[in-house]
Amino acid sequence: MSFLSATLSRVKPSPTIAMTAKAAELKAAGRDVIGLSAGEPDFDTPQNIKDAAVAAIAAGKTKYTAPDGIPELKQAVCTKMKRDHGLDYTPAQVSVGTGGKQTLYNALMATLNEGDEVVIPAPYWVSYPDMVLLAGGTPVIAATSLQTNFKLTADQLEAAITPKTKWLIFNSPSNPTGAGYSRAELKELTDVLMRHPHVWVMTDDMYEHLAYDGFEFCTPAQVEPGLYERTLTCNGVSKAYAMTGWRIGYAAGPVELIAAMRKVQSQSTSNPCSVSQWAAVEALNGTQAFLASNNDIFKRRRDLVVDMLSQIDGITCPTPEGAFYVYPSIAGLIGKTTPAGTVIDSDETFATALLEEADVAVVFGAAFGLSPNFRISYATSDEALSEACTRIQRFCASLT
Ligand SMILES: Cc1ncc(COP(=O)(O)O)c(C=O)c1O
Repeated sequence: MSFLSATLSRVKPSPTIAMTAKAAELKAAGRDVIGLSAGEPDFDTPQNIKDAAVAAIAAGKTKYTAPDGIPELKQAVCTKMKRDHGLDYTPAQVSVGTGGKQTLYNALMATLNEGDEVVIPAPYWVSYPDMVLLAGGTPVIAATSLQTNFKLTADQLEAAITPKTKWLIFNSPSNPTGAGYSRAELKELTDVLMRHPHVWVMTDDMYEHLAYDGFEFCTPAQVEPGLYERTLTCNGVSKAYAMTGWRIGYAAGPVELIAAMRKVQSQSTSNPCSVSQWAAVEALNGTQAFLASNNDIFKRRRDLVVDMLSQIDGITCPTPEGAFYVYPSIAGLIGKTTPAGTVIDSDETFATALLEEADVAVVFGAAFGLSPNFRISYATSDEALSEACTRIQRFCASLT
């Protein structure tokens, strides 16, 4: 009998981390690998946010705080929810955790019983199904398609819901596709949820601010006020404010759920880092001006990547509304052979051959639950992106 828990045996290690490790190994061996697998902005944390953290240290704000956040940060979240979405929350309805990941995890741990189902549209962020499994629930994957630019339709959502469904996990703009739902597209989904009062929505708005071409971000409770009482709106400062290492995420929802999440956190990690919380207060309350200039850069990179990949025979690359990912299909390359003699029979084989034979690291689509595709993170310099896409073009042209 294994010493390790049965639950853990159902969970996979993160494939994005595995791909990044493989790329690092080749780099260490002297290869000029371009890594497009990591999901974090290449920008530095803005200076006003760093200054707020330094000031917090100087002022001795370095002790335990309330387990799920300092009152100032909870208030900043309430102000943000009102300012950006017109939604009213009180600090008792807000939970702050160690990254967006912990708030999602706390919510699943606090609510799932054996047999409870969680609907997850695919392609999905790699952690959702495994977090559901760790919390004892059953992920129910609802596959989308390239035809709808990877957005879940009302019919697909309806078909995935059963009497055992507890949550829908919703993510727009999405990791890994960058797809962002318009207000009308989201309303079609919230209309389905209004017909199923036992289903709650956990919306992961992490990429809210990263949106291009005038895309108007909307969150479910804003589009359908009737869902307010069964929506947990999750967000964080990691991506928009280039604060991945600071580890601050937050969620707003019904008081009873927030209290249950606090209980999970108080018996596991206690409060998120006090200094990071003060930095997050500044992120939410301070200037938001750099968001627009960062977005200009991300949009330029997105266009560069979509344009270069679209020139490749056998690859189809939709233009996403947001985040910093593209998710091209390689359906037209399946069955071809690489110069080293590997037959491309899956997106995993494609990504491995691309790394080994062309020195570009991407993440294969099977990791995100929809194949045959791969994910590129374009949160890196224009030069690196241009060189990487040239290598991908050359590699694809060399297939026979
Ligand atoms: C969709 C999505 N949600 C949540 C997270 C987690 O963010 P954090 O680093 O704040 O835990 C990520 C990070 O990659 C993500 O892509």
